[in-house]
Amino acid sequence: MFQKLGAIDVGSCNIKMARGRRLIRGAICDGVSLIHTPDGMAPNGLITQPKELAAALEEPVREMRDYSAEIVMIAASDKVLARRMFLPNVTRSASRTIGGLVRDAAEREFAIESDDYTIDYKVIGEAVKNAEKSVKGIFVMTVAVPNDIIRSYSEFLRECGLSCRSIDFSGNALVKQVLSEGAGRAGRSMAVVDIGHKATSVAIASNGKFQYYRAFPYGGEAMTLAIADRLKCSVEQAEDMKKKYGIMPCDEVGFAGQCVDVSHAVKAVLSRLAGEISEFFDFYVERNADNPLERITLSGGGAMVKNLDEFMVKIYNIPISKRTRVGSMGRGKDTNNEIGMYFTSCLGALKTI
Ligand SMILES: Nc1ncnc2c1ncn2[C@@H]1O[C@H](COP(=O)(O)OP(=O)(O)OP(=O)(O)O)[C@@H](O)[C@H]1O
Ligand SMILES: [Mg+2]
Repeated sequence: MFQKLGAIDVGSCNIKMARGRRLIRGAICDGVSLIHTPDGMAPNGLITQPKELAAALEEPVREMRDYSAEIVMIAASDKVLARRMFLPNVTRSASRTIGGLVRDAAEREFAIESDDYTIDYKVIGEAVKNAEKSVKGIFVMTVAVPNDIIRSYSEFLRECGLSCRSIDFSGNALVKQVLSEGAGRAGRSMAVVDIGHKATSVAIASNGKFQYYRAFPYGGEAMTLAIADRLKCSVEQAEDMKKKYGIMPCDEVGFAGQCVDVSHAVKAVLSRLAGEISEFFDFYVERNADNPLERITLSGGGAMVKNLDEFMVKIYNIPISKRTRVGSMGRGKDTNNEIGMYFTSCLGALKTI
């Protein structure tokens, strides 16, 4: 009865697939798959070897094909550009001209050749910019995805025998998932911080809409490398220790040895990241003093670092939650707790809100 869809998020470390039925509002998850990305096949959102990757994913792809061939691909890369833009002297009703204006604004603000990008936008508000002069205009969320990324997705899906229904920008998908759980309604604001392997994305929903976005070009891999460097061990050993110890609770009083070194290395990376995220939050608050951020939801494998929520609460002083359950999407079958951290954007991509 409801439309069956798949969502695929090809990360540099893991490929996430979710199968679900789209409802008029929301979705029901029928299952998920998590597959380690073969080395080097998807650096920073670009699928470099579509044919080989499709072959490596034979089993989960077959499962997806049996369920539905219609796929929403997630555009996740720090090469994807997204920004809230103001178009002066334009009203919402001028829909025929907005596309051209957005293109010009994107060329200017992103400093790109628009022919190299697929540009999409959503009107997110109408405003009087300057009350005295009554300069009206609209705010648009503009997203520009490099064409080579889009081409690589099309080729990959073709090799899989799947078809591309749409491409959803990861920031938008993250926000949709968290909004559907009741956060960030009208007059309220929240942020999603997705810590991946090579990149971290931060999306802010304000007044129930996706409005601000930033990507930072590092994540879980940087923590692993910092541990390897500090302990002079292999990357594999560092990766294991990162997962085992994470951040020490409180101030390491009473602890000694490897776990303290690991904690210091992880915290050094996270402090830098938290500082950059703070600057972004300040940028948001300057423009939205009446609508401060109320909560942060953590997602992505990199956010599974032990005690990360405690660490973040101390910095931001607002509630922090980890998105952990796939089952909270609806009546999904898979309610494994930890695995949910990986699927925020996939689950959001299946939804309409
Ligand atoms: N228990 C854990 N503790 C700490 N880090 C973890 C844990 N489990 C997984 N990770 C880290 O999560 C990262 C992978 O997360 P994820 O699958 O969200 O990344 P990705 O989407 O493939 O990367 P990107 O978005 O950068 O392309 C890796 O760096 C991995 O080491
Ligand atoms: Mg990711």
